[in-house]
Amino acid sequence: MEYIKTGLKAMLLSGFIAFSPLAAMAGNGVEISHLGVNNTLVRIIDDGKYLLLPVQEANEEARVNILVDGKLEKSLNVRLAKSKVDYTVPLNLEKYRGHDVVLNIVTTQGRSSVREAKEDACWNILAVADTFDTSNRERFRPLYHHTPLYGWMNDPNGMVYKDGVWHLCYQWNPYGSKWQNLSWGQSTSTDLIHWTHQPEAVLEPDGLGMIFSGSAAIDHTGSAGFGNGAVIAMYTSADASQIQSLASSPDGGYTYDVYPGNPVLTLESEARDPNMFWDEKAGHWVLTLAHALDHEMLIFTSPDMKEWTLQSSFGKGLGAQDGVWECPDLFELPVEGTDEKKWVLLCNINPGGPFGGSATQYFTGNFDGKTFTPDSDEDGSVPTKWMDYGKDHYATVSFSDAPGGRRTVMGWMSNWQYAADVPTLQFRSANTLPREAGLFRGDDGRTYMSSTPSPEVEALRDRLFKSSGRKSLGSKAVTIPLPEANDGICEIIAELQAGKQGKAVIELKNRAGDKVMMTYDAGEHTLSFDRRESGIIDFSNDFPAVTVSPTFESDGRISLRIFIDRSSIEVFGNDGRFAMTNLVFPNEPFGSISFSMEQGKGKLNSLRIYSLKAE
Ligand code: FRU
Repeated sequence: MEYIKTGLKAMLLSGFIAFSPLAAMAGNGVEISHLGVNNTLVRIIDDGKYLLLPVQEANEEARVNILVDGKLEKSLNVRLAKSKVDYTVPLNLEKYRGHDVVLNIVTTQGRSSVREAKEDACWNILAVADTFDTSNRERFRPLYHHTPLYGWMNDPNGMVYKDGVWHLCYQWNPYGSKWQNLSWGQSTSTDLIHWTHQPEAVLEPDGLGMIFSGSAAIDHTGSAGFGNGAVIAMYTSADASQIQSLASSPDGGYTYDVYPGNPVLTLESEARDPNMFWDEKAGHWVLTLAHALDHEMLIFTSPDMKEWTLQSSFGKGLGAQDGVWECPDLFELPVEGTDEKKWVLLCNINPGGPFGGSATQYFTGNFDGKTFTPDSDEDGSVPTKWMDYGKDHYATVSFSDAPGGRRTVMGWMSNWQYAADVPTLQFRSANTLPREAGLFRGDDGRTYMSSTPSPEVEALRDRLFKSSGRKSLGSKAVTIPLPEANDGICEIIAELQAGKQGKAVIELKNRAGDKVMMTYDAGEHTLSFDRRESGIIDFSNDFPAVTVSPTFESDGRISLRIFIDRSSIEVFGNDGRFAMTNLVFPNEPFGSISFSMEQGKGKLNSLRIYSLKAE
């Protein structure tokens, strides 16, 4: 058996000293022994907080079995670097201090000899270190949207408000920026804008499987046996089967203990993403569960979160049916301007969204504690409705127990079509701005959902960069610069009048020739968003796209709130009656906005541009 001690010397020899992004060079602290063409043992020989694992995204996954005092502690799948290092990810060693730690690594890449296997880049860079640098080094990392510090993120999970703190968990891979090792990461905030990240996952894959999506709720009556007011999470344990598990929090939502009696609910078919709430009127827990491949949501009830009874199913043959149904949420909201209340059932689907890939559809209706009955049109048909008309709004669900009866929601700002290929490395994906969900009655008599940026978002405003009164619009564009000092990151508030049949065009441009074109078609009552020339688009054929939203107006006017961040644009129209969320990766920040008429004469009634700040 041959031992190689890695270190600075080895790095210098191999030429990898040029790579530094995330690797702290301090100390090596490992002894490596190559057992065969695809099997290597790594022994930790120095004390340190982390073992830095070098990742090359294009490489296949290696299985990393972590043995502590000879016993299997956990296994990870990591794309260990072969020919180049894209970034490193940290394995926390602190909790094993004083113990014997060995990694048994099985790589899948075929090697003709041990000598060849030894040449993999990862062996030279693997290092024990006391620091892991998470400061941002990517130009597309949003300034004010929630992102993980590093690694892959998809759905928001376990969202709950408790004692003044918003707890936002999320599907997280702490060991790479592609989907794998699904765990729950957690960030917390007191203002929905500034997030404190917990460095470690709060739920990690265990013997029952990876930790898929789910919800959290406060058990005010102590019905589940974890104490009055305990925060309890329910999630899907995903391995050969998808089964539902509980975890209770001993500290008001910051950490979770897995319930030893798991699973609490099993089905013979694929079901996931449990979302529960306490139904005050009925005096029981209600659980909606995505019966993914059956394109329906199942509704269960329970007195204690442990014994669940199937009460009904909803959705077969209704709404968009093209993809799997995932991530449900069920809640009641008042209908604006009436005394009425209605229930909303969110049914995220993938693929099958209006512009391809994933999207959030919803149904309005009534719920009697056991069964959801959707609103239908006069002819008995149930209309398909979308919560957001962009391509990058998915897995949207709400915070439970939000104060003052508000229904605050967040979605994952990406699309399964290309989420793993977007041009970022250190992290992948952000969440949408927090939004307040509401209901309004459309001119067609149907009930629709509105979503407006949460009021806390206004605190992002730095200064009023530009304000302008009424301006006539014709074919010649009125162009206004965006706050350059702030990389063009801003909120734009505009009110436009296009006449009954007019077409107004809003363009965002930069000096690199990238542009985003939005067209308000007053005759069609639509707003389109064209990102086909928005910058970097070639990482996926599904990325270049035009998305179109109904504008829910009849008078040829729209008011818009447009939020620009480094790699996203969110448009809220007519007080949240429609929303449109699209990612963009411009080669340089957008430097100007212009308004013109493609058809007819119009007016820019008012315009305000605020630069936004992170702190
Ligand atoms: C939705 C989803 C969920 C699942 C999770 C896995 O985006 O597919 O249904 O629980 O992602 O990461």
